[in-house]
Amino acid sequence: FDAVQLIAAKRDGGALTTPQIRWLVDAYTRGYVADSQMSALAMAILLNGMSREEIRDLTVAMVDSGERLDFSGLGKPTADKHSTGGVGDKITLPLMPLVACFDVAVPQLSGRGLGHTGGTLDKLESIPGWGASLSNEEIFAQLSGPVGGVICAAGAGLAPADKKLYALRDTTGTVEAIPLIASSIMSKKIAEGTGALVLDVKFGSGAFMRDYDRARELAQTMVALGTDAGVACSALLTDMNVPLGRTIGNANEVRESLEVLAGGGPADVVELTIALAREMLALAGKPDVDVEGALVDGRAMDRWRAFVSAQGGDPDAALPLPHETHTVVAPASGVLLSQDALAFGIAAWRLGAGRARQEDPVVHAAGIELHAKPGDEVTAGQPLFTLAADDAARFDRALEALEGAWAVGEASAFTPRGPLVAE
Ligand code: URA
Repeated sequence: FDAVQLIAAKRDGGALTTPQIRWLVDAYTRGYVADSQMSALAMAILLNGMSREEIRDLTVAMVDSGERLDFSGLGKPTADKHSTGGVGDKITLPLMPLVACFDVAVPQLSGRGLGHTGGTLDKLESIPGWGASLSNEEIFAQLSGPVGGVICAAGAGLAPADKKLYALRDTTGTVEAIPLIASSIMSKKIAEGTGALVLDVKFGSGAFMRDYDRARELAQTMVALGTDAGVACSALLTDMNVPLGRTIGNANEVRESLEVLAGGGPADVVELTIALAREMLALAGKPDVDVEGALVDGRAMDRWRAFVSAQGGDPDAALPLPHETHTVVAPASGVLLSQDALAFGIAAWRLGAGRARQEDPVVHAAGIELHAKPGDEVTAGQPLFTLAADDAARFDRALEALEGAWAVGEASAFTPRGPLVAE
């Protein structure tokens, strides 16, 4: 094949065949197709789309560019969850140990945050000693042992074609194409070897896919890809217009996750954790177990502690605290009308909780604590939220991001949100 001909075919609205797509992905991974050519192809795909067969072929080719883990020897089912990313989304932390309580192994291979959305590994790395790097043998051993779950970094061997292509899309304005997003996410999850997968596809201001219908299309595309690859797959469409829970950051999100594991925690975090756990367990063949019971009676907390210890962390160590805080109070009495997820995500990022480039460090103690949620009654002078950073000079730019992002007003002006799990 000739890369220029294939790019031109896609540019002119044609469809690529299975052998053409396999050749392209293989040649690109080996360096025979140049970054410039793959960028042009990605843009042609963004503009002209791909058929379901082309998306499947692209996904399979990216899976085949690297290794595929195999957990069939574990002797128990496996289930994982993937979230398309949000603000305050710490659900993986309580979810993994909760599901593992029911003898379903959870191979949760996760990433780091970029931009305004946080990353699970960044949050966990605020626990002293905890490490994200496990070899394939260590992953297998932890899944088959008493922990029954891992949360760790995806190794370089999984879907290397996607790693190359995603970095290219990031710098060429071609991230937003549904065929490319769906194949990128699903190639990694299929290569990870999970038997069941629940997708938490977010919509709303803090989501990667703001528009509900586009989020739904992404969800359907990904579920079809998983199903075609033999993974039991389903998706929940969940609201990301308002941050999840009362914390945004890293160490503070671990603290909130511990509250959930102790049977408490904010209602929305608990609701989503339970909904996703039920879905994972149903797909893994355990639809009727007492999910709430494992949060209330300490089983999920015991798993969490075993998990933290197994990956080198100290479950009893103090989590880092910020050097500086700044609290914003209600200017008047009334109801908190709004709390925009994107603005709060950007503010937490500017406080140091997130990173601008993949190689930057994050400040584990930085972030935001929300003292009120939309719909709550507040009185003048009552704290609404607290910013935390290692350097007070960061507060101005964070506060700038929050201008217009929240409001206190008359109760009659409050519009209640729809359900957290929309579909
Ligand atoms: N996350 C991914 O892994 N890939 C994408 O393309 C978008 C989000």
